Amino acid sequence: MSRSGKVTVVGAGFYGSTTALRLAEYDVFETVVLTDIVEGKPEGLALDINQSRSIEKFETKLIGATTTSEGGGYEKTANSDVVVITAGLPRKPGMSRMDLIGVNAGIVRGVAENIAKHSPNAVVIVVSNPLDEMTALAQLATKFPYNRVMGQAGMLDTARFTNFVAEKCNVEVSAVKTLTLGSHGETMVPVPSQCTVNGKALAEVLSQQEIAELVDKTRNGGAEIVALLKTGSAYYAPSAAAARMAKAVITNSNEVMPVCAWVNGEYGITGVYLGVEAQIGKSGVNKVIETKLTSDELSSLKIAAEAVRSKQADVKDL
Ligand code: LAC
Repeated sequence: MSRSGKVTVVGAGFYGSTTALRLAEYDVFETVVLTDIVEGKPEGLALDINQSRSIEKFETKLIGATTTSEGGGYEKTANSDVVVITAGLPRKPGMSRMDLIGVNAGIVRGVAENIAKHSPNAVVIVVSNPLDEMTALAQLATKFPYNRVMGQAGMLDTARFTNFVAEKCNVEVSAVKTLTLGSHGETMVPVPSQCTVNGKALAEVLSQQEIAELVDKTRNGGAEIVALLKTGSAYYAPSAAAARMAKAVITNSNEVMPVCAWVNGEYGITGVYLGVEAQIGKSGVNKVIETKLTSDELSSLKIAAEAVRSKQADVKDL
């Protein structure tokens, strides 16, 4: 197995540390750097993960780095090929992702500036919430080309939708294909016309009412977990999605995934970060793939684009 490159995961909370563990276990990177502002936490977790290497049989090395908001500690992240930004606060029960915008904007901006300084050629994957706005902010703060900054959400929302459909139809998840586009929030756009169960259109397998219920459950998938956990938000499915995106970059796999990417012309939508399908490789987003949508789905996507556009315009002042 050949390993190459370096990935930094910013934030050693549950989301960040689980992402770092998944990335290490893929055994495709030379190095995974895990950072946090809580002194000693990333170093401790790095030691722990490294000690699992002979059991789980991977050679990727973890490095922990305590960082400061003034940029201390970032030397260890230098020249990363990929950076996953998980920094910021998670939701509390009853909060929307948008309630986090003020506090997380400050955190993400600081992190993005430090990353740009130390890893000027990195591909950045943002997972901090509110996702679409924090992705736009990370691009502004790094000043990286749009293709090198993307956000994780579509993979997660799609995986949730798939899980709910599989449970409802009592089939294996591998028999189900789903797709969600739009925002990681209120204006998430499920795309039933692209969803199948054992190759059959979803509309032939479930009633409109049942599909609408599963779509609603998917849209509230994150909030349902926040309400149950009471502190913190989901991290197993989110970290799986973020780690797969980072792997697609370092292996230059050119896989097509639903991600939050810069859309400029596709679907007749211009100049906004939005959940779409995109081909992911070494330089981040190679291209946005225009999926065939029904006219209802396309108008929902355009509504989502306008909703996130107005919020994204606000982030430059935060
Ligand atoms: C979720 C958070 C991570 O959807 O946005 O679970």
